Amino acid sequence: MRAIEYSVTGEPDVLTLVDRPLTEVGPGEVRVRIHRSGVNPTDWKSRRGNEAGTAVHPAQVPNQDGAGVVDAVGQGVDVALTGRRVWLWEAAYQRPAGGTAQEYAVVPVRHVMPLPDDASYDLGAALGVPFLTAHRCLTVTEDGPDRLGPGRLAGRTVLVAGGAGAVGNAAIQLARWSDATVITTVSGPEKGNLAGLAGADHVIDYKQQDVVAEVRAIAPGGVNTIVEVWPAASAPVGAAGTPPHGSVAVYATDGGPTTKELFEGLAEAYRREIKRRRHLEEARRRAPSPPHPQSPPVRALWPAAAESLTLKVMVLARMADLTMIFLATTGVTFVLSAVAILVR
Ligand SMILES: NC(=O)c1ccc[n+]([C@@H]2O[C@H](COP(=O)([O-])OP(=O)(O)OC[C@H]3O[C@@H](n4cnc5c(N)ncnc54)[C@H](OP(=O)(O)O)[C@@H]3O)[C@@H](O)[C@H]2O)c1
Repeated sequence: MRAIEYSVTGEPDVLTLVDRPLTEVGPGEVRVRIHRSGVNPTDWKSRRGNEAGTAVHPAQVPNQDGAGVVDAVGQGVDVALTGRRVWLWEAAYQRPAGGTAQEYAVVPVRHVMPLPDDASYDLGAALGVPFLTAHRCLTVTEDGPDRLGPGRLAGRTVLVAGGAGAVGNAAIQLARWSDATVITTVSGPEKGNLAGLAGADHVIDYKQQDVVAEVRAIAPGGVNTIVEVWPAASAPVGAAGTPPHGSVAVYATDGGPTTKELFEGLAEAYRREIKRRRHLEEARRRAPSPPHPQSPPVRALWPAAAESLTLKVMVLARMADLTMIFLATTGVTFVLSAVAILVR
């Protein structure tokens, strides 16, 4: 069968078309006839490695994600899977011969999922790593769900940074499917359109608008989860936007600072935000409290009470400084009713 592989790290020119023997299917595995192979950053980052020209042995067939039809199953796997349309994920993970950039790929059965008849192979090959990443980001919040689905995020607000990107767009779709209110940031109208089509309720242009102010206006109580692609740029948003027990799920740090600098930056942004909230709290405490509505004096009620036994009982109750609930539960009502009859 035809396959693409690389045996040295580097740019795309290290990719070579070769003829490889069909891989045998082992116990617990399935073999998929690949119709579409998906390419993600993890694929080209692995191919580049830390330094160009480093030997890769054995040669690696790239690409984690794909879609196709199961053509053989191994021992212990339901034979009914044969002929089924599927999408697959992480095919190349720790499997040099496993990537989807070949005509047939063998993977553990748990790495294949049914692909409905009305879903294209293109769609199937685009799900894998981006959607798994987005799902994980949306399920790390302390008091949130650990699986997504209709209603699972109802009443919660999610902020997705970079909503036109592969993972960002997947996060919008999954959050919307799970009934969250979704806010997203983009760099312009065209990307805003993509984010809107994915289901975002609020689209903020981070180049034109003040993201912190916009997020505060949309979600005054903060957002429950932030799905973050660019933490260095948006640390203040994270700090300002999350209430206690909210979370910021960071899935990338491209072009940004080192992890140490990043977390120092985040810590500083959070310190500032905590200070800001303390000031607000203090100001609220110091503000004079609004006057309590005055109850009318008991005597003023008396003429009306003269017309009604119930009112008399209530007035007497007020005089005794008791509430009606207390009266009803203690049986004092009976006594006071009797007194009221006497007064009448
Ligand atoms: N794709 C995956 O399966 C996957 C999985 C895990 C991790 N990752 C990592 O995640 C990163 C992004 O991957 P991707 O595939 O989603 O890339 P992508 O499709 O190119 O999306 C990146 C997004 O980041 C946005 N962005 C850049 N700077 C931003 C900023 N300052 N504020 C807000 N948004 C900003 C971009 O939006 P604008 O152009 O509008 O600025 C773009 O939409 C990479 O480092 C990748 O390795 C990817």
